[in-house]
Amino acid sequence: MKILRTVAELRAWRKTLPNQETLGFVPTMGALHAGHLSLVEQSKKACTRTIVSIFVNPTQFGPNEDLSRYPRPFEADCALLKKAGTDAVFSPSPEEMYLKDASTFVVEEQVSLPLCGEFRPGHFRGVATVVLKLFNLVQPDTAFFGQKDAQQCAVIERMVRDLSVPVQIIRVATVREPDGLALSSRNIYLSSEEREIATDLYRGFRAAEELFHRGERQAELLKLAALQEVNRSGRFQVQYWDVRHPETLETLDQLDEAGALLAVAAILGKTRLIDNWLLKPASKA
Ligand code: PAJ
Repeated sequence: MKILRTVAELRAWRKTLPNQETLGFVPTMGALHAGHLSLVEQSKKACTRTIVSIFVNPTQFGPNEDLSRYPRPFEADCALLKKAGTDAVFSPSPEEMYLKDASTFVVEEQVSLPLCGEFRPGHFRGVATVVLKLFNLVQPDTAFFGQKDAQQCAVIERMVRDLSVPVQIIRVATVREPDGLALSSRNIYLSSEEREIATDLYRGFRAAEELFHRGERQAELLKLAALQEVNRSGRFQVQYWDVRHPETLETLDQLDEAGALLAVAAILGKTRLIDNWLLKPASKA
């Protein structure tokens, strides 16, 4: 497995790939877990070569967020990626990625606005900019993103469509712990007590889903059922719990047979958790 630290090394490696190879790309910020590895697995199934980037992207963190304490277990990450059969890892320094006077950014102006867009101003501008830059550097055929970050997927898909970026985007299902908590690099911030409470987000989704399958179509009632679970401990500070159109992310009052995306962001202690759940009619589930 090649470890590439600079743009020059990456470009040189990219040039060595014969035309008939297909390149799958998994962008990450490291601190890898089984969720990231499932993206690698999908890439290996779909493409003949797989490259993973590990870059804790400063431009997507707000001033009071966890940029400096974000975990960076680089050696362990590389061991996992090697075992998973990754061909190359691109892990540049911030200085390698951003010139001091960089002044060009990518701003998506619709799907990036609600949900996390409201609570993390500038976040999706940082994400879209770094992902487009990584696409330009890596030049993959296909890139893999987790449904865990459904709004991020929507922003990237919109950017790729609107700017005619020649990369196919594949969404990969969320990998969860046995008790339903979505895997996240940030779960290590949780105390053992918080870790137990964290599963209530998942219990909330299941409560809403049960009501939905019993025929309930009013978003407000699905939300109330879910929030009963989420608020059980009294420990979550919910930023949003919304029922949205799965692609446009517009709010829905009444669900139809297309289903909906349930999306939550909540703070538990010092940790901000996000998760989402797709409601599909039984015939489509
Ligand atoms: P990061 O949080 O490291 O996530 C990298 C990729 O792994 C994302 O596509 C994310 O959705 C996916 N992922 C995370 N947890 C997952 C889970 N439990 N199941 C399935 N996939 C999961 O998202 C980012 O990094 C950054 O914003 C990035 C796209 C790299 C741009 O900096």
